[in-house]
Amino acid sequence: MSLPSHVRIVEVGPRDGLQNEKQPISVADKVTLIEKLSQTGLSYIEAGSFVSPKWVPQMAGSAEVFQHIQSADHITYAALTPNMQGFEAAMQAGVSEVAVFAAASESFSQKNINCSIADSLIRFQPVLAAAKQQGVKVRGYVSCVLGCPYEGNIAAEAVVDVAQQLYEMGCYEISLGDTIGVGTAKKAAQLFNKVSQVIPKAHLAGHFHDTYGQALANIYACLQEGIHIFDSSVAGLGGCPYAKGASGNVASEDVIYMLNGLGINTGVDLDKLIQVGLHISAVLGRETNSRVARAWQA
Ligand code: HMG
Ligand code: MG
Repeated sequence: MSLPSHVRIVEVGPRDGLQNEKQPISVADKVTLIEKLSQTGLSYIEAGSFVSPKWVPQMAGSAEVFQHIQSADHITYAALTPNMQGFEAAMQAGVSEVAVFAAASESFSQKNINCSIADSLIRFQPVLAAAKQQGVKVRGYVSCVLGCPYEGNIAAEAVVDVAQQLYEMGCYEISLGDTIGVGTAKKAAQLFNKVSQVIPKAHLAGHFHDTYGQALANIYACLQEGIHIFDSSVAGLGGCPYAKGASGNVASEDVIYMLNGLGINTGVDLDKLIQVGLHISAVLGRETNSRVARAWQA
């Protein structure tokens, strides 16, 4: 199959990237990161998360972050909302798009959001209803689609089932998350192919953590399957606090470099994005995880 001519990048660095950081990061630093990302040509930035501050302390300042960002009209600034409490807080903070997050693994669902998969879907129903009433779009995540830190292999059928339910409940786009980065290209392609039998490809996104260094290969395999939306994180920041050992998302810079080489348009200025990645890495006091940025620096 021919590759798509355009890819939409969902920049999850300010949320997925920072949520696992142990050191305190100020609201001002988060706002600066989001505003710098806004200058790179990105059209979608996941800027925070309205979850329990006891569970994910780093995201506690998300309301302030949203209140302070100088938002650009052409950019969607989204937030995670696991329940009505989160959704209401997000609406108060002026968030324009939200995401709910489920898992294909029962154990991960329990560890991450303290309920079963079935109960999580019940919790999302009022969120989707309220969002619909207020004209707010809802993205849906499925975690552990290619493996679980507690259960190991996850059956593709379990992924299809949860993804389909989220889509039928009204999520406009389903992001399939390889939370611990164990997937390989063939399995990733097969999974997306299977899910695309119940959800159109234009409504599916790939969310690859890069723990085993397979994310770019997985994205390439998904491109060949006709998937054209990918989540990534500037400087490869991140990890999930409830998936021990899982490293960050694939670095946005590395994805853009690969897509540029394939002649696929993203609208993102790679040089500017590299600068943003180096900036946030300096704020965090460590080297960037982007191979492209490291090579560029050398
Ligand atoms: P719970 O303890 O079952 O919730 O947590 P509860 O309804 O029983 O409430 C207990 C307490 O939490 C109460 O406070 C509530 O007010 C508070 P208390 O009375 O004890 O002081 N609470 C909240 N506070 C703020 N915002 C809220 C909220 N809801 C309840 N929305 C809950 C359930 C879902 C809240 C909890 O488990 C939680 O916050 N989990 C965080 C999960 C998380 O953020 N994980 C990381 C993001 S997911 C991810 O990274 C994967 C992804 O990237 C894709 C991939 O890679 O696969 C998306
Ligand atoms: Mg993630």
